[in-house]
Amino acid sequence: MADRTNGPTSRIWRDGRMVNWEDATIHVMSHVVHYGSSVFEGIRCYETPNGPAIFRLPDHIRRLVDSCKIYRMDIPHSAETLVQACVDTVAANEVRHCYLRPIVARTGEHMGVYPVGVPIETFVIAWMWGRYLGEDALTSGVDACVSSWRRPAPDTLPTLAKAGGNYLISQLSKMEARLDHYIEGIMLDAFGYVSEGSGENLFLVRDGVLITSPLASGILQGITRDSVIRIARDLGIEVREQLVPREMIYISDEAFFTGTAAEITPIKSVDRIPIGTGRPGPACRAIQDEFLGIATGKRPDPYGWLTMVPEAVAAGR
Ligand SMILES: Cc1ncc(COP(=O)(O)O)c(C=O)c1O
Repeated sequence: MADRTNGPTSRIWRDGRMVNWEDATIHVMSHVVHYGSSVFEGIRCYETPNGPAIFRLPDHIRRLVDSCKIYRMDIPHSAETLVQACVDTVAANEVRHCYLRPIVARTGEHMGVYPVGVPIETFVIAWMWGRYLGEDALTSGVDACVSSWRRPAPDTLPTLAKAGGNYLISQLSKMEARLDHYIEGIMLDAFGYVSEGSGENLFLVRDGVLITSPLASGILQGITRDSVIRIARDLGIEVREQLVPREMIYISDEAFFTGTAAEITPIKSVDRIPIGTGRPGPACRAIQDEFLGIATGKRPDPYGWLTMVPEAVAAGR
């Protein structure tokens, strides 16, 4: 069984067939290459004592199908088929854990932006991925800044769709942050309120209350965000979805990013201003413990968030 921390695997699901890594190619004239027309998901499969477990798989597939609907992409696969495709991709690669990337792209070999009639292809890729924001990010936290780039206004790019083109703004924000020696940038929304990171939602804690930006602030509706809200409420922590002015970050007691890749990553400082003590706070640590405990099968899963990859299937590939 492969157990690398970063890198490719060997088999990719391609519209119902399992193909070799090198055969999952598309043409340079593909619509997606020129016009950014893809929608995708990022899903983690965790190693548990009972084998690989995919975290909130049906919820991710639902968001993928929603993204297709927003962009009028007629994906020919049902949600059930896509769920099974993800399970099969983990099994075919014989990995104990990985990051899954289902992607639906407009391909073909035609010139022109009009997408109707352009072929649509679907892939599920497994990638070995360790800690997204750095090896000790989950324990020590990261330094972030407020970005000069903003999330799209509500009447521009639809932010509820997880679409390839949305990540152009994420790239600009992330590059700016890294060039200035921060790990991540926090973008404001079109109205100047706090939105989210390049690939993460943001939470603040002030006086024991968990605060996060609403969907109206141009965020992606994160599945980790939803998990954190549910865990926090069950831990007795009050949660408020509200517009967040930039300066509220600086005076918060705790701040953390949430996302499939970033998991739950504490933030040490923003714009070089220490957040709280500058170390991961108690609310973040309690939620992180519960979240990772459930995901890795070390704690009971009262929410039904894990889809197990059956061993018989894994062994049969
Ligand atoms: C822009 C953006 N915001 C938020 C998130 C967090 O979403 P999730 O928790 O569903 O991974 C992601 C990651 O997918 C993202 O790319």
